[in-house]
Amino acid sequence: MIVLGIESSCDETGIALYDTDKGLLSHALYSQIALHAEYGGVVPELASRDHIRRIVPLLEQAFEKALLTPQDVNAIAYTKGPGLAGALLVGSSVASSLGLALNKPLIGVHHLEGHLLSPLLASKPPVFPFVALLVSGGHTQLMRVDGVGRYELLGETLDDAAGEAFDKSAKLLGLPYPGGPEISLLAEKGNPEVFHLPRPMLHSKDLNFSFSGLKTAVLTTLKKQGDSPSEQVKADIARAFVNAIVEVLAAKCALALRQTGLKQLVVAGGVGANRQLRAALNGMAAKRRCQVFYPELEFCTDNGAMIAFAGAMHLMQNPDAAQKDYAFTVRPR
Ligand code: KG4
Ligand code: ZN
Repeated sequence: MIVLGIESSCDETGIALYDTDKGLLSHALYSQIALHAEYGGVVPELASRDHIRRIVPLLEQAFEKALLTPQDVNAIAYTKGPGLAGALLVGSSVASSLGLALNKPLIGVHHLEGHLLSPLLASKPPVFPFVALLVSGGHTQLMRVDGVGRYELLGETLDDAAGEAFDKSAKLLGLPYPGGPEISLLAEKGNPEVFHLPRPMLHSKDLNFSFSGLKTAVLTTLKKQGDSPSEQVKADIARAFVNAIVEVLAAKCALALRQTGLKQLVVAGGVGANRQLRAALNGMAAKRRCQVFYPELEFCTDNGAMIAFAGAMHLMQNPDAAQKDYAFTVRPR
């Protein structure tokens, strides 16, 4: 079975073709990061318009790379939500139009489920059950995953998402959008002994997170350094921020592994690309004799492959999961 995947929930247009026998056949991606950079964040209306501009050429690219035509597809999976309403509408209306024109069934995919299952695209994937840490720009969750569609929420952020904390703190330090990778790079030049920032909810004994206080701590620390802090001071603050957030994430993952008794941890979502987080999780897992799985770097952030894959997994379980109902809606929340 060949599934076409379409992702357009935020600022990346992703298209992919997944074959349940042969694996991923092709994927094509366009990131709008440069478009939104000058505004310091994603501008929803610009995002929708750019998805419209990119989506058909990307579809053509993906089919060309896979040496397939749209008629070869058995089903079309698209991101139904959560995300920006206008952006989601582009992917879902293209999916519906293609389905209607080609007489192919559609399956709406939850964006986070795409992230959650993305580590299974790797050559050495984890096996169910496992604990998953979902850390993206919009979400921070710990889940117990027993199988496709069998998820239990263990804990989540009570305020900002981890990626949001990275981006907002980076912005306070004057770094360009999206700040996650930038603040992580700057932190490598920082001295860990200079500043100490709070570790919110580190000892809360549950699996929830809270990151908005950390962002505020970055702001107050920065303000105390006068009007134009040196690059080294900024690097030291970046280091303190990264160390704090990474310590909390790693400690909660350790607690989730202990509470569930599971031995595999899957890390998904954009923040999963973070080097310091990976180092901390690898160290924690080695101590606990657990294994950590990361999606390939290109599948950590938003992409079409994870949507094609999640759609394909649902269809393998239940062929009726895809329907020839072309009246589409999106679920921004
Ligand atoms: O999963 P994703 O691409 O989109 C959402 O669904 O949100 O995640 C994007 C988030 C952004 O906040 C970005 O700053 C963060 O992931 N991110 C990183 C890194 N790469 C991406 N944060 C920290 N370190 C990184 N290397
Ligand atoms: Zn995402």
